[in-house]
Amino acid sequence: MTNIKAFSARPFTRRAALTATGLALGTAALPGSIKRARAADRTQITFASANFYGKETIGQIADIYNQSQSKVQVTYVQLPPPSSSTEVHQALVQQLARRNGTPDVFTQDVIWIAEFASAGWALPLDSYFGASVQKDYFPGLIQACTFRGKLTALPWHVDSGMLYYRTDLLQKAGAQVPTTWQELTETAQKIQQAGGAKFGYLWQGKQAEVLVCDLVEVVGSAGGGILAPDGKTVLIAEAPAVEAVQFMHDTIAKSKISPQDVLSWDEEPSRGPFTAGDSVFLRNWSYVYKIAEDQTASSIAGKVGVAPLPHFPGKQSAACLGGYQYGVNAHTQNREAAIDFITWMSSPDTQLRIATGLGLAPTRPAVFDQPELIAKQPFMHTLKDVFVGATPRPVTPLYPQVTLALQSAVSRALVNGNVQAELNRAKDKIAAIVG
Ligand code: GLC
Repeated sequence: MTNIKAFSARPFTRRAALTATGLALGTAALPGSIKRARAADRTQITFASANFYGKETIGQIADIYNQSQSKVQVTYVQLPPPSSSTEVHQALVQQLARRNGTPDVFTQDVIWIAEFASAGWALPLDSYFGASVQKDYFPGLIQACTFRGKLTALPWHVDSGMLYYRTDLLQKAGAQVPTTWQELTETAQKIQQAGGAKFGYLWQGKQAEVLVCDLVEVVGSAGGGILAPDGKTVLIAEAPAVEAVQFMHDTIAKSKISPQDVLSWDEEPSRGPFTAGDSVFLRNWSYVYKIAEDQTASSIAGKVGVAPLPHFPGKQSAACLGGYQYGVNAHTQNREAAIDFITWMSSPDTQLRIATGLGLAPTRPAVFDQPELIAKQPFMHTLKDVFVGATPRPVTPLYPQVTLALQSAVSRALVNGNVQAELNRAKDKIAAIVG
């Protein structure tokens, strides 16, 4: 594994990566017959991905692939964690824009697929993964991986926002799992006032990509949206969005179920106090479940429930569609090796391993139904419909500009409370970007 500095600070050469990792000579760890296939005899490819980790890391998974066959040697290039979405995006754009074939394989957040495809950086994959392969994935994800009729990404893992809650605290308070934001607020306040927990509800208000994810969920749960399906009509200053952002603001300023700190928190800082036992509720991604149930990392193991996020009265719950997908560099000189590697990475066995070892949900319905997954990650099976029905962020090659406009306007609204005025400004900016 090499790190982001090696990736972004100087032109990335394969030799530099191999020297950094020791993999150029590193046959010592390889078993039996495969050990005999020296690294030099293998096709060397680089694989850049945000740094996901759980019981296992992405680097370890890539090593298992290296050990499983004797033709291809993958070097993992570690990018920042997925919560640093903007930084991961920047690092990839810098590399892909050079069009020099490095990295050979990468993983892409679902929001970058249109941009990378439209720039001609992602290899169309239809001739390798045709209809008979595509039918084994959730159709919505194949759609998310398809740009202008071409499959330019291969599904890896799907994610969606969800509500984590403390089963013990709810039981003690005689409360049900909330289905509306009003119920969540009342239950949180009741437990806070009784001294059951310091915080009521933790979420992510930092000016970062995750704020847009939280936004999509609350706006969606009020019956609104950001961009209409026509890709041109901006909905972010309409009444449901205003109601949603006002609610987000009020969790801090009015009902005080959320601390001021959520404004500077992304995923991990908001997860910390929850698994330390200090909050009734938390909005976060699926990775939290494994940590929350791990007695060495959490003081609330055995007391955690997961449910769909609440909604406004008469409306429906919305979960933001997240997750990362594999991409092959359109300029790679190692196409066959790259395809072999992503075929293995996206296979049912590897998806199961990643779901149980890293807590990342599969993109194949068949893996969701495997007994091992149901035993180790029960909530994934229970919330399958939430994953499958998740709401995408705007799909456009201009997404990086759209997200920055949303992040800055919503951040300001959360601080100054001028919700309608800030959303009007966001609307004008976004209309100019997509217009
Ligand atoms: C998660 C999601 C990704 C999202 C990011 C925001 O990694 O999978 O889609 O953009 O969080 O922090």
